[in-house]
Amino acid sequence: MTDQEAIPLMKPYKMGQFELSHRVVLPPMTRLRSYGNVPQPHAALYYSQRATKGGLLISEGTVVSAVGAHGYPNLPGIWTQEQVEAWKPIVDAVHRKGGVFICQIAHVGRVSNGDSMPDGEPPVSSTDKVVTPDAETGMVYVKPRRLRTDEIPGIVDEFRRAARNAIDAGFDGVEIHGAHGFLLEQFMKDSANDRDDEYGGSLENRCRFVVEIVDAVVREVGAHRVGVRLSPFVDYMDCVDSDPVALGTYMVEQLNRYEGLLYCHMVEPRMAIVDGRRQIPHGLLPFRKAFNGTFIAVGGYDRDEGNKIVAEDYADLVAYGRLFLANPDLPRRFELDAPLNKYDRSTFYTQDPVVGYTDYPFLDDDANDLNNEA
Ligand SMILES: Cc1cc2nc3c(=O)[nH]c(=O)nc-3n(C[C@H](O)[C@H](O)[C@H](O)COP(=O)(O)O)c2cc1C
Repeated sequence: MTDQEAIPLMKPYKMGQFELSHRVVLPPMTRLRSYGNVPQPHAALYYSQRATKGGLLISEGTVVSAVGAHGYPNLPGIWTQEQVEAWKPIVDAVHRKGGVFICQIAHVGRVSNGDSMPDGEPPVSSTDKVVTPDAETGMVYVKPRRLRTDEIPGIVDEFRRAARNAIDAGFDGVEIHGAHGFLLEQFMKDSANDRDDEYGGSLENRCRFVVEIVDAVVREVGAHRVGVRLSPFVDYMDCVDSDPVALGTYMVEQLNRYEGLLYCHMVEPRMAIVDGRRQIPHGLLPFRKAFNGTFIAVGGYDRDEGNKIVAEDYADLVAYGRLFLANPDLPRRFELDAPLNKYDRSTFYTQDPVVGYTDYPFLDDDANDLNNEA
């Protein structure tokens, strides 16, 4: 930049021990290109394309066990040594560019069409209620098996081991996936949790499983390496809560118990139509105010909206999903206020190692094209 002051999104920020050079975050995005649950060399190119010196990247949802991967054949895993070894060069590629790289650790629970489950067993959940078929995608889910109370410590331990494995693979920390209707939300939200043991009923009981996971992961790798993602307002996969503000507030209070927790990452409610325009509802303010540490907001943001919420201190960092997927050099484009590539939804979840994955052009590519044409 010249003598102009940097835009809010380009201002540096200290997140725990990390000196971030800007506020533009790559959020977790499943890309289904980790064949047989093993991360592939093409992921090193994909993530390093999006890495910047002092930029924060969060990996796609990475599952903690074979059971946790149920129904999504090519999700990356982090429960075997082979997977840990496969992650290492990918993490190295991001570090070589000076990026900070966090691994999102996840368990899908009942969000499963029945494929890829070891021995054809049903998926596990807080409940035995099946997810309603998705009319748009045609996806049909299978009936899950309700976890017994005595099985829950085993799942908590899978998250603990996954976090250790992520650190062994070189990641700078982990993000616990407590969003979007996956297993942790199946416990937290009252539309999905119909248990009558100490993991069901009251808000405190419904959140117990997640709090136990945070506790175990923090004890294993340290609060300074643990972030948590939550989406109290979102209604994916039949996971809805009758009081999302109470749920989000309770969870933030629980996170505040960990001194120096790396961050809280929250998903906005669905876009609302106001005066004929799609608008971000900005529903996260109570949680931003209640949380003691770094707060990341995500969901529908663009350059202007991101600048605005950083300037207003609504969030410390802003994550950009689809825009970052389609613009590997998104922070630079924001800095220059350059035009953006459009994302191609049809290739979000395909398996090609290049198309719709590592072939989105950089700004410089456009310049080269123009030079070639001239
Ligand atoms: C292709 C794709 C895959 C996604 N996978 C994940 C995921 O693995 N874990 C997760 O927590 N969110 C996932 N999300 C949600 C994004 O992290 C983000 O919250 C969402 O895209 C909204 O941000 P945006 O409006 O900037 O795109 C995914 C989104 C997309 C588009």
